Amino acid sequence: VIPDLQAIVGDEHVLVDPDLKASYETDWTGRFTGTALAVVRPRTTEEVAAVLLVCASAGAKVMVQGGNTGLVGGGVPAGGEVLVSLARLTDIGPIEAGQVTVGAGVTLAALQAKALAEGFDFGVDLAARDSCTIGGMIATNAGGIRVLRYGSMRRQLVGIEAVLADGSVLSRMPGLDKDGTGYDLVGLLAGSEGTLGVITQARLRLWPRLTQRAVALLAAESVEAIVEMLPALRGGLPSLAAVEFFLPPGLGLVRKHAGLPAPFSAEHPAYLLVECTDRVDPLDQLAAVVEELPGLVDATVATDAAGQRALWGYREKHTESISAEGVPIKLDVSLPLTLLASFIAQVGPKIEAACPGARPIMFGHVNEGNVHVNILDTGSLHDEVTDAVLQLVASLDGSISSEHGVGRAKVPWLGLTRSPVEIAAMRAVKNALDPTGLLNPGVILG
Ligand code: FAD
Ligand code: MLT
Ligand code: ZN
Repeated sequence: VIPDLQAIVGDEHVLVDPDLKASYETDWTGRFTGTALAVVRPRTTEEVAAVLLVCASAGAKVMVQGGNTGLVGGGVPAGGEVLVSLARLTDIGPIEAGQVTVGAGVTLAALQAKALAEGFDFGVDLAARDSCTIGGMIATNAGGIRVLRYGSMRRQLVGIEAVLADGSVLSRMPGLDKDGTGYDLVGLLAGSEGTLGVITQARLRLWPRLTQRAVALLAAESVEAIVEMLPALRGGLPSLAAVEFFLPPGLGLVRKHAGLPAPFSAEHPAYLLVECTDRVDPLDQLAAVVEELPGLVDATVATDAAGQRALWGYREKHTESISAEGVPIKLDVSLPLTLLASFIAQVGPKIEAACPGARPIMFGHVNEGNVHVNILDTGSLHDEVTDAVLQLVASLDGSISSEHGVGRAKVPWLGLTRSPVEIAAMRAVKNALDPTGLLNPGVILG
């Protein structure tokens, strides 16, 4: 296939040299790695379609990749696939009627810069913003730190263009807020992790920019207390934009690897980072609600942008600080809020029983009951530890993946929180759109 691919995208955009391919072949965590037959870097939708046709007719499987910040091994090759990188689809159109059309390879940071410059904001934000792409974020239905205000990636989508496995281009781009004509194909591609089509463009909703911001870091007497604070925060703060939690083990790693000072004079059982954004300064409103919170033991509020960034650092530097300590098992689960504290209390002993000495670090998006369970020092007991955590999640009516997707990492556990009927329906959709299994083999359904 190499000469045919070169004829489509040009020799310089078909990488076969192992050194040039290397950064595409290992995921962000360093856990998943495989060799690609070649890395192909198309520039347009037409080139993506032609690449897929060449691969299909040669029987070469395809892996789809955006910014390669995914955390479930869904964007790197298992071995022998043609890796199609969307990183060169970087066009950003004009903002019209609060919407914008962007290429799949546009990074989140580039979209944010465009939106901010014109008085808008984009609804999804996450710490990988400089590298993750809009295509990858749609494919994983990324969540991040502002879901409570604006929803996940699927909610930002008003149109999509994608190349299907047979090379045809599915395009639904008029940007209609309402469209009752049959199946929601735009929504279907969100969260499909590259298994149903290669996303090439998206039409996205933007939100009015809110310039006034207040950020507080709260220390709580227990994990139960942070969950109990939520109704007061949600009810008392119409400007609430983010509520994120972390615990002492994560804070310790962030302080060690990012060199941050202790946020409080003493260590506390649980921490909550709260952000409000509005047209008028929400600081007084936030301070008034915080004062009355049950279970609060300490609080610090940042009034200027530098101080706010510093407080966010305690939360956002978790991922890189954990990876600086070792290669973790990364689990990303959702629990009903009423069971979140019970899950956190039970999961440590379950991990210890499966792998004595393993170190769990938990943090996440508490409003959605989304806990990132990272586990270090698991040696060869990867599957045993994963199984212990995910069985507990299933027993508490949670989900084994909240926002990172299934990828290759969670395939054996999908049946824990998706029924046989649901999995059969998913398989039917996959078979209908990609009958030869060309796209992202092994991802989601195995
Ligand atoms: P990739 O890693 O390249 O790919 C991810 C998946 O999408 C793969 O299955 C791939 O095949 C598929 N894919 C990529 N592009 C396309 C396309 N154009 N068409 C079809 N399929 C495609 N995630 C969250 O949800 N919330 C967070 O808060 C969050 N924080 C993070 C913080 C850090 C520091 C890091 C490293 C990651 C974080 N992530 C988070 C995970 C990751 O950033 C997201 O999953 C992101 O959406 C992946 O985008 P990407 O472009 O890097 O995709
Ligand atoms: C986050 O919220 O920071 C992430 O989803 C990344 C992670 O789980 O490490
Ligand atoms: Zn997250």
